[in-house]
Amino acid sequence: MPNYRRGFESLRREIHEPELPTEGDLPPWLAGTLIRNGPAQFEVGDQDYNHWFDGHAMLHAFRLENGTVGYRNRFLETKSRQEALDEGEIVRSEFATDPCMSIFGRVMSLFDPKPTDNASINVARLDDQYVALTATPLPVSFDPETLETAGVVDFADDVSVDTSTAHPQIEPETGRTLSYGASFGRQCTYKILGVAPGNATRREVASLDVDRPSYMHSFGMTERYVILSEWPLVVNPLDLLLRGKPFIENFEWTPGRGTRFRILRKSDGEEIATCTADAAFGFHHVNAFERDGAVVCDIVTYPDASIIDDLYLDRLRSDEPTPGTGHLRRYRLPLNGGAASSTVQSDERLELPRIHDGVATARPYQHVYGVGTRETDNFTDQLVKIDAETGAAQTWHESGTYPGEPVFVPAPHGSDEDDGVVLSVVLDPGNEQSFLLVLDAASWSERARATVPHAIPFGFHGQFFGKAGRD
Ligand code: CO
Repeated sequence: MPNYRRGFESLRREIHEPELPTEGDLPPWLAGTLIRNGPAQFEVGDQDYNHWFDGHAMLHAFRLENGTVGYRNRFLETKSRQEALDEGEIVRSEFATDPCMSIFGRVMSLFDPKPTDNASINVARLDDQYVALTATPLPVSFDPETLETAGVVDFADDVSVDTSTAHPQIEPETGRTLSYGASFGRQCTYKILGVAPGNATRREVASLDVDRPSYMHSFGMTERYVILSEWPLVVNPLDLLLRGKPFIENFEWTPGRGTRFRILRKSDGEEIATCTADAAFGFHHVNAFERDGAVVCDIVTYPDASIIDDLYLDRLRSDEPTPGTGHLRRYRLPLNGGAASSTVQSDERLELPRIHDGVATARPYQHVYGVGTRETDNFTDQLVKIDAETGAAQTWHESGTYPGEPVFVPAPHGSDEDDGVVLSVVLDPGNEQSFLLVLDAASWSERARATVPHAIPFGFHGQFFGKAGRD
């Protein structure tokens, strides 16, 4: 039986290895730090977190320079984690776990809701700070060298949102960071927020009132527009305020609504079109661009939202496997609204999609990198490189190992979109270890690997921060 389940067990050890054992040929130009984020502790006292998204955030830094790889890992020391360790039980509400509350506790929590700061999903650079991100608007800053936690970022503005995507997008032309958030209340609102380079003030780019907000993990962005993909997984805001259930369990699958794409113009915040499509669900927008009077929007999709249920830890650790991957679907959204058309671009399954950030972002592009599924009774057991136009795919796999999100790092002065390497942390349960895999992105063949002396649980997202301040 595949032993990918090792990737859903806690890692409590924090280590620093200045130089990992490395084999192969590391590109001499590869200088900087890959910082990855993901959950690494799934229980407190005798209580278990319910869902893969709920575990305590841990950062892993791979420092690449002069042909060597250093490694350090450290828990993000959040209030959510500290309170849980101090109390010996779960204290804050996570994505799919609520603390056991007395009636009194529940009433109190209405006046003092403590959103989690367990920022386990992604990392980003915000102005001059390195931050860990989750779906609450509480980025946690940390030192990129030591991985020491500094604390929740204090934004210099009065913007109020209850959720915030862990997938901000950087406009290639301006360097501005765009983010999507939602506020819940008597009137619910989607908000697009922008942060200009060199400051930490969020400005409202667009806002849209909504009766039944959709659960949207990420959003699409073209040169002129932002696309909110409203999957028919929606919530009655009253249910959230009463907090009878963990956050995500308040959302209901209502396929009759179909999927609604809301196209918002960045320049003035106007909604210029709504397009509709059949019911579907997705976490990750891959890329989007404008072509022939339409927005082309590539998203990893699923027929419905049951993928969220598949990622409960009980299920992931059970004998009933889930591939954990969807398909690359290309939506064409007419700028004058109406029905969207869509096609599945490739038979190859994928998740955790990445592109050549900056160069491919918001433009017609060719290459998507992701984790894939080779054996359908297995978890993510290969890396894939898919041609977004033709669907042609290349794969990398090594029997009994489980790769994580492939992060593309461009070669300096490269000419082709795939001129560079991808970095992926691969779990090797048979050897109780993980390794950093360096693939040549163009030839899709291994260049080097550096072995970490412990098994790293499956993570979500990471970013490469170049040495000269280049991402
Ligand atoms: Co994500």
